Amino acid sequence: MAPEPTPFQHRSQPDWVAMEKWISDTVVHPDPALDQAISTAQAAGMPPIEVAPNSGKFLQLLVSIRGARRVLEIGTLAGFSTLFMARALPRDGQLVSIEYKAEHAAVARKNLDDAGVGERVDIRVGAALDVLPTLEGEEPFDLVFIDADKQNNSNYLEWAVRLGRPGTVIVLDNTVWEGAPMEPERDPVNAPGIRDSLQLLGSDPRFDATVIQTVGSKGWDGFALAVIR
Ligand code: SAH
Ligand code: DHB
Ligand code: MG
Repeated sequence: MAPEPTPFQHRSQPDWVAMEKWISDTVVHPDPALDQAISTAQAAGMPPIEVAPNSGKFLQLLVSIRGARRVLEIGTLAGFSTLFMARALPRDGQLVSIEYKAEHAAVARKNLDDAGVGERVDIRVGAALDVLPTLEGEEPFDLVFIDADKQNNSNYLEWAVRLGRPGTVIVLDNTVWEGAPMEPERDPVNAPGIRDSLQLLGSDPRFDATVIQTVGSKGWDGFALAVIR
């Protein structure tokens, strides 16, 4: 008989978490506005699924390196990743972040306003597949960060192409998911969507992509980095 699939759960090793904290303290230096995005999420009962601080800083650097003026985020939570990216935007830049849960959006709104980047961030409440069509006809996005329901990853990649242009950078979070994409039966809910989206990134000539694995407080995970050709 085939073994039962292991229930999916993130597993962190103490060393990974300690080293992540050391990196964060030594290199990233999160400030009170970033800490507020974590503490308010916790107080509101949100799951601790924001990016790790070193990954958030990586997103900020990507926005900066790309010289992005328009950033699209799918999945706001309490605005932790949003704040990192918004900080790399020029004064006239704009970040549109889509969030399904109004309670999450309200917490994020306050965090971003308190952090002084509120003017640059437009939070749209709703299911991303309903909100994305309303963004058509606006200026193209220079960078897209996808971090919401994994079942729709491939749909979000299609929207990134529609709302982006050649040279648009795409970051797709949670693409390693404890190794489940290579054995999707380990997480029938999320792994098939992650696997399909990676197969799309790897086979569709509109994308040029890789996946970077990460470990730390969020377990064994990673992100895909892609550029639209
Ligand atoms: N990017 C955030 C974390 C996002 S967590 C950070 O790193 O700080 C994922 C978020 O996506 C949750 O807030 C969840 O409510 C939202 N979400 C889930 N499904 C969604 C959907 N279909 N449309 C929009 N948002 C969705
Ligand atoms: C989950 C979602 C995320 O975006 C993440 O980074 C980690 C975990 C989740 O739904 O469990
Ligand atoms: Mg994520």
